Amino acid sequence: MASLTIRQLDDRLKKLLRLRAARSGRSVEDEVRTILRAAADESGTDVPGPFEPPAPKSAGRAAAAPDTKRVLLIIGGGIAAYKSLDLIRRLKERGIAVRCVLTKAAEHFVTPLAAGALAGEKVFTDLFDPAGEFDVGHIRLARETDLVVVAPATADLMAKMANGHANDLATAALLATHAKILLAPAMNPLMWFNKATQRNLAQLAADGVLTIGPNEGEKAESGERGTGRMAEPLEIAAAAEKLLAASADKPLAGKRMLITSGPTHEPIDPVRYIANRSSGKQGNAIAMAAAAAGADVTLISGPVNLPDPTGIKLIKVETAREMLEAVERTLPVDIAIFAAAVADWRVANAGEQKIKKKAGQATPDLLLTENPDILSTISHRKSKRPKLVIGFAAETENVAANAKDKLARKGCDWILANDVSPQTGIMGGDSNTIQLVTAEGIEPWPPQSKQDVAAMLVARIAAEIADK
Ligand code: C5P
Repeated sequence: MASLTIRQLDDRLKKLLRLRAARSGRSVEDEVRTILRAAADESGTDVPGPFEPPAPKSAGRAAAAPDTKRVLLIIGGGIAAYKSLDLIRRLKERGIAVRCVLTKAAEHFVTPLAAGALAGEKVFTDLFDPAGEFDVGHIRLARETDLVVVAPATADLMAKMANGHANDLATAALLATHAKILLAPAMNPLMWFNKATQRNLAQLAADGVLTIGPNEGEKAESGERGTGRMAEPLEIAAAAEKLLAASADKPLAGKRMLITSGPTHEPIDPVRYIANRSSGKQGNAIAMAAAAAGADVTLISGPVNLPDPTGIKLIKVETAREMLEAVERTLPVDIAIFAAAVADWRVANAGEQKIKKKAGQATPDLLLTENPDILSTISHRKSKRPKLVIGFAAETENVAANAKDKLARKGCDWILANDVSPQTGIMGGDSNTIQLVTAEGIEPWPPQSKQDVAAMLVARIAAEIADK
């Protein structure tokens, strides 16, 4: 049967799928599975058990329910590799699907046949195996997984990872994955405590790679004791299960995000200011939804009458210039959302003292000067530009057309456009009607609460990140 990837679909279909997936909080792939299952149910087709789009035959992939978590198990070349066969069983006992990659060295200790029989899937060994690359390829191996476990992680594998090598299937997949990586190191104690290994370990930890073990105990190959024994399969399986559970409801774990919110106050004199009707509710809701999804959030907010959100770094500012300064201080981030209603102008001749009203004197003239455009400044940065920059367009007419124009002008990736005409009650209110404008087109979102807009945006961002 021919294989179909989401990338091959036309842009309109891809966009619809992404929107459906964002709404239902599923990955795009899971959304496709759900649609196919519903279609099969509707047509009365007899689909035995959990349905999955058929994988290419030679991939030898066992059918797995859409919600099944997947581990890519990379088995390195060490005597502890024999324990990795037990690890496959332990993971499968927990309902986790396992796909194995064996390094060349690992094949001296365990056979692909044994690993494949236990995993119930084809085992991958060679980066340049044409059959393997056509079936799945190292990029798909890296992407179609929720967690990568390297067990045993040898000193050599760790050194390659720390230095970004990709000269075999295991290291290429490790370099290409966006999933969390858990290493179970196993080596001779002298190798473990060698400065080079410890240096590589520190580098890997700084890169966000997790480790379990090594434990202390007798070494299988030499009868020596010391630190370097691979963690037990049960320990590794339990750690993997915990990481998978955490990643399931934390799709933005490990992502740094900044959000601007609320109005700015531009002083006229020490007691008066220019402001606008922004309540900060939408920005706060996004910050809370992103934090709940595991993101490391910094909220940079103008003056609002809202309780400080918990679990979020909050920087309170007053003026547009303070907001820009706080944003630049917060970089680098992965995602930046500019929800603040920044005043376009400030008073150039703001009074140092309160401007007095004096009988018979002319009304004072306020001279306005333009504020920095924070969204545009950050979108056009050459360095430290966030991977995803999202702005808002509050419009009172020609909402979609103005937002498209703004997307190009400001240089951001997405614009959330909304109609803020007084009759909509959006400004200061609790609900919002968004049109998401991207380079691919316009997605109209249904009218919903600002919390639901936030949840949908976070799901959409998670899908976009997973897709990349
Ligand atoms: O140009 P306009 O104000 O309509 O653009 C709105 C978008 O630009 C919002 O995302 C807002 O947060 C951002 N913006 C900004 N700095 C400004 C003006 C707007 O970041 N000075």
